[in-house]
Amino acid sequence: MDYAALDTKAQEILRGNDRGTYTVPTFGLYPYQWNWDSAFAAWGFSTFDVDRAWVEIETLFSGQWPNGMVPHILFHQDDPGYYPGPDVWATEGKGPIPSSGITQPAVAATFARKTWERNKGKGEAHVRALFPMMKAWHAWFMAWRAVDGAIVVTHPWEAGRDNCADWDSAMAMIEPSGVGEYTRRDTSHVDASMRPTKADYDRYIWLVQRGRRLGWDDAAMAEDRPFAVADPTLTFILMRANRDLAHIAEALGEDRSEIDSWTRTLENGAETLRNPDTGVFDAINLRSGEHTGHVTSASFLCWYARLDDPRMGAELAKSFASCRYPVPSLALSSPDFDGMRYWRGPTWAIMNAMIAMGLKDMGYENEATHLRSATRDLIAEHGFAEYFHPDNGQPAGGGTFTWTAAVWLAWASPNAEGF
Ligand code: GLC
Repeated sequence: MDYAALDTKAQEILRGNDRGTYTVPTFGLYPYQWNWDSAFAAWGFSTFDVDRAWVEIETLFSGQWPNGMVPHILFHQDDPGYYPGPDVWATEGKGPIPSSGITQPAVAATFARKTWERNKGKGEAHVRALFPMMKAWHAWFMAWRAVDGAIVVTHPWEAGRDNCADWDSAMAMIEPSGVGEYTRRDTSHVDASMRPTKADYDRYIWLVQRGRRLGWDDAAMAEDRPFAVADPTLTFILMRANRDLAHIAEALGEDRSEIDSWTRTLENGAETLRNPDTGVFDAINLRSGEHTGHVTSASFLCWYARLDDPRMGAELAKSFASCRYPVPSLALSSPDFDGMRYWRGPTWAIMNAMIAMGLKDMGYENEATHLRSATRDLIAEHGFAEYFHPDNGQPAGGGTFTWTAAVWLAWASPNAEGF
């Protein structure tokens, strides 16, 4: 395998998706700046153009709302190829740039720290400027999304796992009446069998319409939430990000105590996500109070959050044994598993990178190495796709994908420095 050629290809993908000050996830399907995609893009850029990496994160925070929220999409310029666009979200007056009204997993502080580690001297000025913005975002999460110490998803897109099985019971409780006619754009770029269903989409849009009706006001939206799921993705990722932000605070000579108190709150909250019947971390539909019972790739982010857990170790061994290219976004043993449908089975390189980062940090070298080589083979054999079938590796969704290329450059490539 010509890994050097793949390194070059990955750089070309980042350059090709670069729109100057931000990077699109992929041409066509996702024509704007997405929040967590950008943090991964920065990590990828940091391997060959660290200045561009800083620009990526800074552009993301240039869209931060005064309340601290960092939107999940920034619509820097109109593009008719995506639905729902800025006119549907209608967030005018809420933030400096047209944007969506929800957020995404808080990976930015973690990858800002990684970028700084590659750019020790010059990076300090960037991190110093970003620090209060990152802190304000985390504070917003703690104020508006922490319920019993776990972080709650109020729209399926907020956790970045759009149609995962963890939302099914909560989605079924929504009656999307009055949603009206609309034209999806995603299925004009990608085969419908690889995308969320129409029933899902009606509810996604219905929830956007509700936010718009309430003027995207945090307090109004927190009342009587029609969709509220306590989620391992947002909880574990924010926990990890708080630890990295506290580290940054200390390195800058800033006070870290408030950030540490958030981490403690989330440590307690994370325990509520442990399913009492199975011992595995999953999600809770807060409207019914029930655990979802699904083993997803987000369950395995516990080590990334620095929670050690032998029971999860046993579960990970099962996941590794279940397919050629772990970690599947839903266990293959689940009746809901669908190997090509987005977050209902496929393997995603970013999830693998975060899971492996956690394993490595917690001393599970063998598991981290296994995941790295499986991800390397997956990308080397099947390309820089958005996601992949966990067993046969078939590439799916968008091609020439920014975060897959970034993960390759920063971690999966044999020439990568790794974590
Ligand atoms: C999809 C993914 C989400 C990602 C976005 C752009 O919506 O589910 O996680 O941020 O695409 O790549």
